[in-house]
Amino acid sequence: MEANKDVKIFSLPEYDGEEVSDEDIRALANIESACFSSPWKESSFRDSLKNRNTVWRFFLAKDKNGAVGYGGVYSVIDEAFITNIAVMPEFRRRKIASLLLECIISYCKRYAVKRLMLEVRISNDAAISLYRKFGFTVDGISKNHYFAPTEDAYLMSLTITDTL
Ligand SMILES: CC(C)(COP(=O)(O)OP(=O)(O)OC[C@H]1O[C@@H](n2cnc3c(N)ncnc32)[C@H](O)[C@@H]1OP(=O)(O)O)[C@@H](O)C(=O)NCCC(=O)NCCS
Repeated sequence: MEANKDVKIFSLPEYDGEEVSDEDIRALANIESACFSSPWKESSFRDSLKNRNTVWRFFLAKDKNGAVGYGGVYSVIDEAFITNIAVMPEFRRRKIASLLLECIISYCKRYAVKRLMLEVRISNDAAISLYRKFGFTVDGISKNHYFAPTEDAYLMSLTITDTL
């Protein structure tokens, strides 16, 4: 799909209804474990993909040695939600999250999504800076949204336009 020098981004599934391989599901869960204190397990990814009320995509970034990051998104009618974007620690600051976000925005355009939303820990400066760079703004705060550790979330959103 998208490519920079070392990394390619794969859409999982590539089209609605396509089966996602066990290997790719394992790769998504491995990235979660490496990046979050309460990681999604393989079953969480499988359950999401079975949900017929929403359209899910996981964008998996791979280099020649394997998976290095991913971004998850689902849409309902004309709104979409980013569940997470995560890049393995040793691969950060190489624009991999930016590539993933570009793929998510393309997905939004393809599915006629008008508003893309997400939640982020208010202390997560790296992620907040990434989202602001793409034009997201803060709409509000959700108190005690996260656990381990307990923390508020910023609710951020981006209006999808053709010029993005
Ligand atoms: C947030 C995260 C996904 C960024 O991934 P990345 O591939 O390193 O990001 P990019 O290289 O594409 O960076 C794009 C922009 O994000 C911002 N950014 C990324 N890392 C940053 C950091 N450590 N400090 C400050 N800004 C940062 C910068 O604005 C950067 O642009 P610049 O390189 O021109 O300064 C990564 O740090 C990560 O996986 N963190 C842990 C998981 C997480 O918290 N995910 C967000 C959940 S909502």
